[in-house]
Amino acid sequence: MILKISLYIALTIFGLGLIYKISGWFRYSPGGGAKEFSTAQRIAAAIEGTALTILGPGILKLLKSLFLDVLLQRRILKENLLRWVMHICIFYGFILLLLMHALEDFITAKLFYNYYSTLNPYMCLRNIFGLMVIVGVGISIYRRHIQNTPRLNSNIMDGYTIAIVAAIIISGFLLEGAKITSYDVYKNDMYDEYLADEDEEIIEALESYWVENYGLVSPNYAPPFDEEILELGAEMNENCMDCHSSTRSAFISYGIAKAIKPVAVSLDEAGIHRIVWYIHIFACCIGLAYLPFSRMFHLITTPISLLVNAVMDNDKSDPANKATRQVLELDACTHCSTCSTRCSMGVSYEISGNINILPSEKLAAVRALTAGKRLDSREVQALQEGLYQCTNCLKCTDVCPAGINLQELWFNVREVVLRKGLPEMLTLSPLSYYRGLKIGETEQEGYEKPAMLAQEAVSEKCSSFDTKGGPIDLSLSDRQFEKYLGGSLQGNTFSNCFACTTCTTVCPVVANYEVPVDELDMVPHQIIHAAIGGLSDMVFRSGMLWRCLGCYQCQESCPQGVKVTDIFYELKNMTFSRVRNDSSEV
Ligand code: HEC
Ligand code: SF4
Ligand code: SF4
Ligand code: SF4
Ligand code: SF4
Repeated sequence: MILKISLYIALTIFGLGLIYKISGWFRYSPGGGAKEFSTAQRIAAAIEGTALTILGPGILKLLKSLFLDVLLQRRILKENLLRWVMHICIFYGFILLLLMHALEDFITAKLFYNYYSTLNPYMCLRNIFGLMVIVGVGISIYRRHIQNTPRLNSNIMDGYTIAIVAAIIISGFLLEGAKITSYDVYKNDMYDEYLADEDEEIIEALESYWVENYGLVSPNYAPPFDEEILELGAEMNENCMDCHSSTRSAFISYGIAKAIKPVAVSLDEAGIHRIVWYIHIFACCIGLAYLPFSRMFHLITTPISLLVNAVMDNDKSDPANKATRQVLELDACTHCSTCSTRCSMGVSYEISGNINILPSEKLAAVRALTAGKRLDSREVQALQEGLYQCTNCLKCTDVCPAGINLQELWFNVREVVLRKGLPEMLTLSPLSYYRGLKIGETEQEGYEKPAMLAQEAVSEKCSSFDTKGGPIDLSLSDRQFEKYLGGSLQGNTFSNCFACTTCTTVCPVVANYEVPVDELDMVPHQIIHAAIGGLSDMVFRSGMLWRCLGCYQCQESCPQGVKVTDIFYELKNMTFSRVRNDSSEV
């Protein structure tokens, strides 16, 4: 009774969780113009897209990906053999236990004539599947905690998931082991049911036979047994053989039965098999209810994500579907951290300790943000920094075994986070070039905003100079700055400049404005000149510096070999450290 109730509760939570999660794919948006579509439009687009794929030539791609990516898991194999073994073990062990054991009434019994869980090959297979899961979990723990794979972060969710899976499998084995030894099951559930002979000799014969051959621990009879008794037992066992293969083939449970043999009688009297049965079933209920909210949910989402990515052509797909796919991908992440071990900014994480630099952790923050969780300004700042340090190197997207298009995600989310309005000094990162390339996908106002915010934040720190109007006050020249820039590897070419203005002429940013000096304060060659003059504040505050895309056109065109772009980077880094140092003093 309690059991039925808990099973129903677990199923209800599972069902509601599933609906909640799946509806989220159509409700949420990680940015990138998805807000323009209503949930209904997105569902309609998804149905249409799915139908077109299944009915059209896309079905071939879908089947190929189903075979290679989902069933063979080649993306994991490509990455690391040990991980592949781990994953195949857990995946197939778990799925087969679920289908053949947990759902035996609906699947195995229907498929196989005369199915009994106590017959072979089922009994042996069940042990093999369970062993596979345990081996997989073992490898996972080894990789996370003993091998200490760098940047493989384990969080509480990973721990819970592993603990629940382990509890289900271990209690399952213990249950089988306890049942094999159980006199209670033997006598009350089986003997009385299938033989029910009152003859003393027959009782002794079959019981002895089961003790000898099936691992039963009897309170009444112990070896050594008389040959004749065993022979009679074997004869009587014909009543049982239709449903019972040798328990030895359940090699793990049988081993457990052997191990608990000395205490088996007292355990059986205490009703251990019932207790473990409750534990097993409750662990399964908890696992089921928790599934949509745990990492194990990727059992469902990752295959979908892989298939969707295999058939979706980004350029031709309905934009509504792109948005849906991105949210789905957030759920498909298994937190395997492959991306993080490959991230080209991993070094930066090791120095600063900001976990949002690592794609696997950044994704977790993005998931929370997308689901509407309020992040405080410190969290946004950390995420923003993580997003800005990304070099768009594509490595994470390339290796992700779940096939998640992280690249696109970072770009969209970056825009969303930027709108939150915290100034980001790292707009100087190569990313600004990437954003420049993608200018068509961003609104003009949104595009300008980060540069303006950075510039404003710098202005507050460098207020000694008013760049607008009035003659330039050379007394504000900063000797330190000049010396530093001249001494730096990048900056030491600036004094070669002979003011030919080529750099300004080729600059695509300058070309973007009708009256560049109004918007940019200074144009590239002027910045070089102000730098020669040591006018640090003037340079730091100029709009040009913050809008520079880092495209290197100026540097490549300069007849004097002035490393214009590199100097700009140097200048931006100088500003960055100045503003950072100031704010850390506050
Ligand atoms: C109609 C099929 C059937 C027959 C006949 C049958 N059993 Fe079973 N027996 C089962 C099933 C099924 C289980 C597992 C029950 C469970 O999982 O709760 C089981 C479990 C047991 C167990 C507990 C150990 C285990 O592997 O789960 C013992 C001991 C046992 N049977 C003994 C016997 C004996 C002795 C006979 C003959 C008198 C017999 N059974 C006849 C189906 C049968
Ligand atoms: S694209 Fe960004 S997050 Fe991904 S690996 Fe490269 S630097 Fe790291
Ligand atoms: S994004 Fe991909 S590679 Fe990174 S942790 Fe998630 S599933 Fe693994
Ligand atoms: S192109 Fe070179 S020399 Fe000409 S103004 Fe620019 S930095 Fe100076
Ligand atoms: S690198 Fe040079 S040409 Fe390119 S945007 Fe910056 S200043 Fe202009």
